[in-house]
Amino acid sequence: MRIPLVDVAAQHAELAPELEPLILDVIRSGHLVGGPHVAAFERAYADFVGTAHGLGVANGTDAIEIALRAVGVEAGDEVLVPGNTFIATAEAASRIGARPVPVDVDPVHLLIDPDAVAAAVTPRTSAIVPVHLYGQVAPMEQLTTIAAAHGLPIVEDAAQAQGARRNGRSAGAWGLAAATSLYPGKNLGAYGDAGAITTDDAEVDARMRLAANHGSREKYVHEVVGMNSRLDAVQAAMLTVKLRHLPAWNARRREIAERYDRLIEGGEHLQLPKTMAGNEDAWHLYVIRVDDREGVRAALGRADIEAGVHYPQPWYLSPAYEHLGYRAGTCPVAEDAAARILSLPIHPHLDQAQQERVVDALHQAVNS
Ligand SMILES: Cc1ncc(COP(=O)(O)O)c(C=O)c1O
Repeated sequence: MRIPLVDVAAQHAELAPELEPLILDVIRSGHLVGGPHVAAFERAYADFVGTAHGLGVANGTDAIEIALRAVGVEAGDEVLVPGNTFIATAEAASRIGARPVPVDVDPVHLLIDPDAVAAAVTPRTSAIVPVHLYGQVAPMEQLTTIAAAHGLPIVEDAAQAQGARRNGRSAGAWGLAAATSLYPGKNLGAYGDAGAITTDDAEVDARMRLAANHGSREKYVHEVVGMNSRLDAVQAAMLTVKLRHLPAWNARRREIAERYDRLIEGGEHLQLPKTMAGNEDAWHLYVIRVDDREGVRAALGRADIEAGVHYPQPWYLSPAYEHLGYRAGTCPVAEDAAARILSLPIHPHLDQAQQERVVDALHQAVNS
């Protein structure tokens, strides 16, 4: 039996009796975009994160773009983005006409490096976007100090960190605004594309609501040029149910990560992930580093085990960003990691026998 990297079907099976009648209820209610289910999810998600406001949007990339616009990023500005993240973080800045500037990550956790952030600030910088990659909150205390010193807003990219905490504070509750993706494979995933933004700032929230709904709070009164990025009611209703299960699912992810930590023999050629002091990791991904990454990945594939790479090429070296002119060597840590990282299967429904199979196949692949 194949072991997938994530298993959204197994997750649905756990909740099917609760969710399937709910889908019909929402459809029959006639409230398909906006309405009480969206408002309830927005409240529940903001409460979960610990912010005053929450806004549901169409996907995580829109969430970052809308948040960046709301904190004042404009065309021609520079936005600091870690070298190791999904390209969406950079795309959100590009869509505004701003320039995403790659910043290197720290070699242990692969999270944005505060010293590199401080060194990258210029008079054109208008925001910092730390990414809580793989489920770990970036070093927000240091980043907040640097941002404050330069008068810069922070927009968190919390797409991979629903339920993660740092020194007791949730991912999504640190920046002036925080964006998250609720794509199906995330720790909190919808049944299609979805995203959310959290903030404590009422003005930022109001600007974001306006931007996400054609610049309008009253029908056909358009105050600014906006966009259409709304969360639909079916997704919102299901996300509200799933949110109640998220702490237990994250606890299972933590158990799985701890079991990998115990079972996998780390060494010079195989490094295990490390959780930064102060972090409660949401374990969105369990990312090891191996020398012969493609060989190991292929061997796992032959054993019917799906492993992933997050991400094989830093975004600024992809063809899409050729026009920015960045060369290899821009973020040495991110580039070295891109060649060696390998994400092992981790999801709340992975059982112990499956995990032991992953570990055996990994040891064989590394030692062969
Ligand atoms: C770190 C990160 N940022 C942004 C996104 C974009 O989210 P979406 O795919 O919902 O647009 C993702 C998810 O794919 C992500 O992992």
